[in-house]
Amino acid sequence: MTLKIICYSLLILIHNSSIQARNLENEYKYNQERDKLIEEEEKLSQIDQINLNEEEKIVDDYLHFLKVQEFLKTSDSSIGFPPARPIEEKLNEIRSSEVFQELSKLPKGGNMHTHENYILGHRAVLEILFNAPEFEDLYVAEESNSQSRHYSLDLFVNPPPISSGVKWVKVKDNSTYTIDFLVKKHTLMNILTDEAKKYPTDSRMRWKLMDTLWGKVTSTFRHVNIRAKFLTELLSTVLKENVQYMETRASRIQRLYILDKSGGSSENFGKKYIDESEEYPGKTNIDFTREIVNNFTASNPEFIGYKIIAASNRKTTNERIKNDLIISKEMFEKAGDMIKGIDLVAEEDSGKSHMFFLENLLNISGNPSPLYHTAETNWPDDLLPSPFDNDPVSALQNTYESVLLGAKRVGHGIGFFKHPYLLNELKKRDVAIEICPVSNQILGYTADLRNHPGIGYIRNGLPVVLGSDDPGGFGYDNFTIDWYEAFMGWGLDLRDLKKLASNSIKYSGLNSEEKTIAVQKWESSWNSYISTTRLKACKLQFKIDPTFNRVLPREGALNGGEKVHIYGRHFEKGICQTIKCKFGNYEETEGELLNTYLINCQVPSKSNNDVEEVPISISLNGTSFIDTDLSFTFKY
Ligand SMILES: *[C@@H]1O[C@H](CO)[C@@H](O)[C@H](O)[C@H]1NC(C)=O
Ligand SMILES: *[C@@H]1O[C@H](CO)[C@@H](O)[C@H](O)[C@H]1NC(C)=O
Ligand SMILES: *[C@@H]1O[C@H](CO)[C@@H](O)[C@H](O)[C@H]1NC(C)=O
Ligand SMILES: *[C@@H]1O[C@H](CO)[C@@H](O)[C@H](O)[C@H]1NC(C)=O
Ligand SMILES: *[C@@H]1O[C@H](CO)[C@@H](O)[C@H](O)[C@H]1NC(C)=O
Ligand SMILES: [Zn+2]
Repeated sequence: MTLKIICYSLLILIHNSSIQARNLENEYKYNQERDKLIEEEEKLSQIDQINLNEEEKIVDDYLHFLKVQEFLKTSDSSIGFPPARPIEEKLNEIRSSEVFQELSKLPKGGNMHTHENYILGHRAVLEILFNAPEFEDLYVAEESNSQSRHYSLDLFVNPPPISSGVKWVKVKDNSTYTIDFLVKKHTLMNILTDEAKKYPTDSRMRWKLMDTLWGKVTSTFRHVNIRAKFLTELLSTVLKENVQYMETRASRIQRLYILDKSGGSSENFGKKYIDESEEYPGKTNIDFTREIVNNFTASNPEFIGYKIIAASNRKTTNERIKNDLIISKEMFEKAGDMIKGIDLVAEEDSGKSHMFFLENLLNISGNPSPLYHTAETNWPDDLLPSPFDNDPVSALQNTYESVLLGAKRVGHGIGFFKHPYLLNELKKRDVAIEICPVSNQILGYTADLRNHPGIGYIRNGLPVVLGSDDPGGFGYDNFTIDWYEAFMGWGLDLRDLKKLASNSIKYSGLNSEEKTIAVQKWESSWNSYISTTRLKACKLQFKIDPTFNRVLPREGALNGGEKVHIYGRHFEKGICQTIKCKFGNYEETEGELLNTYLINCQVPSKSNNDVEEVPISISLNGTSFIDTDLSFTFKY
């Protein structure tokens, strides 16, 4: 029975392909079919809806020129193409590249997947602490019986005694504790072991290292003065990279404190919490955060906003989650302008599945919006890496729950490519996927970013937004690194970049009035980026002459009139110029530079019915023509 079906399918296949082959007997028809495939793919990816204007097309060509140069410079194995190499080896090279410099100026919309405490570069964090008056009271865990406590920083009037399991000493009293020293102890890139590097997709091994780094300094961020400086620095750093909006995962309740030197808060080692008798849990911090963001926006009116997704740790109990959700709901009801959703955080494979918390997750019924980390895993459906024996299903099965629980966006979504039907459900339900390329590489999911499933999602027409996850914890801080990897490794052009940026606003938690303003702010930045970059591109002088290697199709209608593709190298001399094509002695026609490898030429119309082979020449500056050594035959 099965065999019969297979044989029958084979017959159909053979039958169909022979029909196709007959249709494709000449290159003219072949090319029409090929163009149709390209068109269908563009429709599927919905990239056909982004129309670039003339200025944007020039910038697009210029970016392709930079991309090709970067590729030529790095693709030799002796150097290594950055998306295919570990970030810790390529960070500085990437930062100093022209592609990076250019992309850092691109208005990116929002950074849609981050964790508040790990966005800012760790060096910048330590600089804040070392330069603040509170430095006098900054302590380091010089010895500790737990790896995750070792070299942690905290602020105290008098530190906890050694019997607490930690030997706290003042940072200022020991000159070993420099910023350089602490950066090395606090960031993943600097503590990656040879073993971890040898097995770049052993995600557990990498998370185990990362798990010793969480919370190394975060207690200091809750000191009011430090939080004000930290947040302001964070906002100004992201804006420098032309990120105008942030939605970040953060603990629901961060109890803000000051240091009380009167001795009145000795039970908390001098921390005096300022959230006594709050109207609702978390209010003090939310109000403080709102004020800092408003102050920042007042002096940087192009900034759109900074919003919080209330996050719970997925290693916790149902009881705790229930309580967390009640609090998150209240925060959302009282401060919906700041709280835009909920999520569960920490490693999916070693935490609990969504199903473990099902009853409680169902109870909140989409209000506030769930924005769940989903399928950040290498494991299949039927293996259970979780250490919790009472967890019913694997992390990959969070894909079902995220769909059914009404997630508005999903974090990472790496494993969705193994569930194509669910992927299609995401598309139908208009659920965006937050892709974090560099995080996925350094945490052991996609060692070679050229093969990241994210590009498949983009080409499938799923709404994708980009995020940087925890760059500060990993050991850098530029979100542009993620854009660089995606741009270099995934075949993205300016239309794709524009879509990623505009998606970030479209799929944000902003309400419709806020979105209107956000779109205006982003578009205004986008337009000014485009005109500045166009001007720059148009001033460039390109040295290398083009070469031509193929025209497709080589033959066409007797009367002409269609388009042909001219393939070659180094068409950059045509950037910002008028491209013209010439077929034999017929009148010059229009050409279009699609990228530095491809020009589309209009074939002239002719009225005679003679079969005729003519040479093709191209002008990259609208005046003198270059002989391509290619020819075209008017034939059918
Ligand atoms: C300073 O810190 C280093 C690193 O923890 C430690 O080995 C050294 O003993 C400390 N020096 C003093 C004088 O405590
Ligand atoms: C915000 O700005 C106002 C006016 O300059 C200032 O008084 C206030 O302290 C600022 N708030 C914060 C949290 O920095
Ligand atoms: C469901 O949520 C409501 C409101 O947040 C809460 O009062 C109630 O206890 C929850 N019920 C369950 C079964 O979790
Ligand atoms: C990238 O990060 C480095 C330090 O981590 C910083 O000096 C630089 O300004 C950042 N680049 C951009 C474009 O923000
Ligand atoms: C146009 O391009 C040709 C061939 O590269 C060059 O010789 C010529 O000087 C250019 N003309 C102008 C006006 O730039
Ligand atoms: Zn995350």
